[in-house]
Amino acid sequence: MPTIIDGKAISTAIKDELKKEVADRNIKATLAVIQVGNDPASTVYVGNKKKACAYIGIGSKSYELPEETTEEDLLGLIDDLNKDDEISGILVQLPVPKHINEKKITAAISPLKDVDGFHPESVGRLCIGQEGFVSCTPAGIIELLKRTGVEIEGKECVVIGRSNIVGKPMALLMLANNATVTVCHSRTKDLAGICKRADILIAAVGKPKMITSEYVKEGAVVIDVGIHRMENGKLCGDVDYDDVYEHTSAITPVPGGVGPMTIAMLMVNCVKAAAWEK
Ligand code: GUN
Repeated sequence: MPTIIDGKAISTAIKDELKKEVADRNIKATLAVIQVGNDPASTVYVGNKKKACAYIGIGSKSYELPEETTEEDLLGLIDDLNKDDEISGILVQLPVPKHINEKKITAAISPLKDVDGFHPESVGRLCIGQEGFVSCTPAGIIELLKRTGVEIEGKECVVIGRSNIVGKPMALLMLANNATVTVCHSRTKDLAGICKRADILIAAVGKPKMITSEYVKEGAVVIDVGIHRMENGKLCGDVDYDDVYEHTSAITPVPGGVGPMTIAMLMVNCVKAAAWEK
């Protein structure tokens, strides 16, 4: 029987470990969460991040800015927070409104407080194997694999998707863990054939149920990063779970797989930021 990788349970275990560490070591951390505009999905994510902070025993400060906020004002707030010793981590919820340059915002956050791991310095550090903040979703996938007992070293890993937030850092992390890594994307020829080589297949394509059994080697570990709402109101991933399940040795469900890990890893980064030498 394939293992269903329980991201909910693993994320709770991580948050409980952090809660204990924060209490035992008397760690003082405060996360600044900035949201510009009121995109409903962002409001839910931001709310969940604040709840997680409260759960592990760190502070959070919310900055809910109107949609019309100028880039200059947002940069000014980030600058103030960078200089504020009370604030250990800063997060600007994405997407930001179109009149604000996301790259400029990401680069304005101090790399010492970059709990999302999106700053070019953080990405560069990951690339050359230096200590730094790592993007939460791919970091969470590594935790899922390790805590499920999946060996990474020497394995063929195929990542489908090359976004800056998931695909690229995912490939770098698998490489750092000594996997042999292939990154596929929308222009890849014979995608199914390449995916079928994977011992570990990580789908971050953004297309509901695209990955069918045709893409999966018998006994592969399948990680599904996608989350989509279907017409019947239920959630599904990038992987056609029912079709793929019996061909895997382990698989993440949607919901309850990768999703809960993102916030758990954000909390790991917040605790790390508090301990980081400023
Ligand atoms: N929007 C969607 N995912 C994320 C994330 O991980 N961090 C931030 N800041 N915004 C997001």
